[in-house]
Amino acid sequence: MKERKEKRVSAIKNGTVIDHIPSNSMFKVISMLNLDQIEYPITFGTNLKSNKDGTKGIIKISDIHLDSDDLNKIALVAPKAVLNVIKDYEVTEKQVVDLPDKISGIVKCVNPKCITNVENVKTKFNVVSKKPVHLHCHYCEKITTQDLIQTL
Ligand code: CTP
Ligand code: ZN
Repeated sequence: MKERKEKRVSAIKNGTVIDHIPSNSMFKVISMLNLDQIEYPITFGTNLKSNKDGTKGIIKISDIHLDSDDLNKIALVAPKAVLNVIKDYEVTEKQVVDLPDKISGIVKCVNPKCITNVENVKTKFNVVSKKPVHLHCHYCEKITTQDLIQTL
């Protein structure tokens, strides 16, 4: 019998493929990147079998390139994600996402009394641990941990 290889999510011509997203972070990534507000074609799959990681999610966004804030957001919930830039059907760039040592303005401070939650002050954190993520607030010194991360 002829063996058939199933194409799970079709290839795209130009744009961005975010691969190796843990299945349980898929919808966080979708909401953090505000993909519900994008008007370009988006396809995604989740709970797909992966040789490396058990199951994974994948997001393909045509004609869009992500900026460094987007990459940092992905790194917060999907530290093993791989970003592929696609041009004319070829992968022209492959980047493993990485959290920088400092992040500002992406995440809300966990402390309700922090000045960043009371006044119009942009959040600022030192990344004191990457796995699991621990963010040390520059203003109130409280630690926001991975499970409590809420993005702005
Ligand atoms: N891809 C795509 N459209 C293209 C080319 C690639 O959607 N025109 C997707 C592939 O389906 C894959 C990802 O982009 O999910 C990366 O492609 P490639 O580097 O060819 O795959 P792998 O070698 O499996 O990547 P990795 O080693 O990062 O898992
Ligand atoms: Zn704070």
